[in-house]
Amino acid sequence: MGLSDWSPKYTVNHPVMDEHHHALFKLIDRLSEAIFEKKENEFIGELLNSLIEYTKMHFAAEEKLMLQVNYPGLLQHKEAHEKMVAQVQEYQRRFKEGDRTVTAEISQFLMTDWLVKHILGMDELYAPYFKKAFSDAKDQNAKK
Ligand SMILES: [Fe+2]
Repeated sequence: MGLSDWSPKYTVNHPVMDEHHHALFKLIDRLSEAIFEKKENEFIGELLNSLIEYTKMHFAAEEKLMLQVNYPGLLQHKEAHEKMVAQVQEYQRRFKEGDRTVTAEISQFLMTDWLVKHILGMDELYAPYFKKAFSDAKDQNAKK
């Protein structure tokens, strides 16, 4: 149990996005723990890689859905995604060059900017649009 436990109250009203967020919470938690426990470089490097790969897949899926529901904040949200990926890739570059001090910055960034500000802040803004689009669709199907 930690700060990064996903909870159903964080739902964005889409089961796949919730599943992605849940997986991201776990990845962030594993990486932060590895950093805290000062695991070897290779291990941390692999977790960092997985996080980046998973995130790219998730951001693309999320942007597709936002487009589908005509979410008005799409452009701004996409920009935030691009900035986050660029930031983590920059951390990764420093880490690969042997800069271990970057790990403290990574933990801080993942927990605050990413988990709290982005997933629990910015992502929540599209949740009502998803609710409307996807639960209305469900209702319509039920009526058929
Ligand atoms: Fe997002």
